Amino acid sequence: MRAGRLLEVLAVIHIDPETLDNKARYKLLIGSVVPRPIAFVSTVNRQGQTNLAPFSFFTACGSSPMRVCFVPMIRSSDGQKKDTLRNIEATKEFVVHVVSESFVRQMSQTAGEYPPDISEFDEAGLTPVPSTVVKPPRVAEALVAMECRLHQLVELGDAVGHGTIVVGDVVALHFDESVLDEAEGKVRLDVLSPIGRLAGNSYCRITDTFDIARP
Ligand SMILES: Cc1cc2nc3c(=O)[nH]c(=O)nc-3n(C[C@H](O)[C@H](O)[C@H](O)COP(=O)(O)O)c2cc1C
Repeated sequence: MRAGRLLEVLAVIHIDPETLDNKARYKLLIGSVVPRPIAFVSTVNRQGQTNLAPFSFFTACGSSPMRVCFVPMIRSSDGQKKDTLRNIEATKEFVVHVVSESFVRQMSQTAGEYPPDISEFDEAGLTPVPSTVVKPPRVAEALVAMECRLHQLVELGDAVGHGTIVVGDVVALHFDESVLDEAEGKVRLDVLSPIGRLAGNSYCRITDTFDIARP
């Protein structure tokens, strides 16, 4: 059947997002923008207390210089900024880790709402190791870690439903030797086994990939 005919028979539900409440908008957004990679972000506060949390509003946003960005939203339970953002505002540094299947449960554990004086490293049983350039430690269990210095904060609003885009310059990269094909300069995705986030508590693997040649 030609695509044109298909369009004629399908019913389309049109939604004006303005007519939805916060929760409904969030559900449709995170169910539609899928799958999302997960930035597992370590930070420290001014006193050196460590913090770790996952963020799936995350992408790469430059290669020279190498840049990544992610979006801590305003916390819905109390309308306040999340600890990760507060720490980055205070210290201008963070480390982004790629989440592999081997520690996906620990990653999920760190997403609980812990007070600022509790380290999610301890709560989740993950191992902090010193970074080479920035103060926040990196996660030893992660196969890929990117030490970042804050490049820019783009505050999009301060109410629930809003977020701040955190853009970081990658100043040091760490690859477990098992995951890097040094001859090809490539990351071995089968070893990395990255996890993507879907809606709610659902995740996905990249075990069913395919290639398409470009024109
Ligand atoms: C897989 C996953 C992805 C998440 N992505 C985001 C996100 O993109 N933005 C956000 O604000 N919170 C996100 N969260 C929730 C935060 O991780 C959670 O609010 C956490 O407590 C924030 O920690 P912090 O206050 O120590 O920064 C995510 C949670 C999970 C489990």
